[in-house]
Amino acid sequence: MGRKIILLLLVGIFTAYYVYTPLPDNIEEQWKIIGFTLIFKTITNVALVGELLGINHFMSTVVFFMSFQDVPPTSDETVTVMDTTFSNVPVRVYIPKRKSEALRRGLFYIHGGGWCLGSATSSYYDTLSRRTADRLDAVVISTNYRLAPKYHFPNQFEDVYNALKWFLRQDILKGYGVDPKRIGISGDSAGGNLAAAVTQQLIDDPAVEIKLKIQSLIYPALQSLDMDLPSYRENAHFSTLPRSLMVRFWSEYITTDRSLEKAMLVNQHVPVESSYLFKFVNWSSLLPENFKKGHFYSNPTHGPSELARKYSGFLDVRAAPLLADDNKLHSLPLTYVITCQYDVLRDDGIMYVTRLRDAGVRVTHNHVEDGFHGIVTLPIFKIGQRVENQYLSWLSENL
Ligand SMILES: *[C@@H]1O[C@H](CO)[C@@H](O)[C@H](O)[C@H]1NC(C)=O
Repeated sequence: MGRKIILLLLVGIFTAYYVYTPLPDNIEEQWKIIGFTLIFKTITNVALVGELLGINHFMSTVVFFMSFQDVPPTSDETVTVMDTTFSNVPVRVYIPKRKSEALRRGLFYIHGGGWCLGSATSSYYDTLSRRTADRLDAVVISTNYRLAPKYHFPNQFEDVYNALKWFLRQDILKGYGVDPKRIGISGDSAGGNLAAAVTQQLIDDPAVEIKLKIQSLIYPALQSLDMDLPSYRENAHFSTLPRSLMVRFWSEYITTDRSLEKAMLVNQHVPVESSYLFKFVNWSSLLPENFKKGHFYSNPTHGPSELARKYSGFLDVRAAPLLADDNKLHSLPLTYVITCQYDVLRDDGIMYVTRLRDAGVRVTHNHVEDGFHGIVTLPIFKIGQRVENQYLSWLSENL
């Protein structure tokens, strides 16, 4: 009898831990988030146990589960879909089937997944690219890139940059019937990070004549110097991207050595020599009042110099586009930024909006009050459809 009660109690606690997700009132379809959390927690817990037992790297297990979402390049009534490579980087190409007299617009898309996960071939990115190609009557290039933990920064950046440069060649654009004056770049999360980074790099690249007309950054990650922003504090446990996972993503992007992750978790990883960089990510001066409410800014604490010397990637502007100076930002194209209230990355996006506007760049900022990380690729949520719609409308008007 007693054993049964204890067992029942344990099952009860276990279920409560699984199902209990404290959510803000203004989020709709809460039961779907609870369902999502259940799956998410199950996968990450299996991955954690696998890692503790020394069976498999955490990310490799998650990649395994996510690979069931992969779909082949299948053309439909409206769009021709095919896989190819640009400069040895695998990409998926979407070309509208309807006849077009004029040259088409082009969109270069970079998927998210913390530089460790995700693929242009997974069903949600495939669906998004299809819809984008059809709705905009545009050629969409959805790029892949090598992932951590096998590959680290700057491989991800370089793959994306090389594929983009390939696409921007006159002869390639001509072959796809793309108008060189109407090419944009877009990406979500880690893909937004890479989109922002390659867009900056392109400005000063004398080898590339054709430039981008717009950049669109969907809840991008833009810095890892300060992992204690108000958005990190407020959304540390939000299930679609907890702080611990984002820290893991950042550190895995740079190195497999877990000592960087440990230092980032306590926000003591920036060496004193690099403190001049903090002004670029100073939320006290870069966030509007309403996002600072209830938070106190204290000057950052520093980490050991040798750690940063070994893994200096996170201090590199190609990994952290918020570290670019104003001269560089000044030349960026028309920009669209989506941020979500319930997202650890919210303040990265908002600070970039502030910095771009201060540097004279035209920016449309779409802040989603009831949004959370990942919505655009989670069309099972009504809010996902709504924001995708806003995003495609903006592209339609501005690209
Ligand atoms: C950040 O901004 C605040 C207020 O604008 C300022 O007092 C503080 O010195 C700044 N800190 C850094 C590290 O730039």
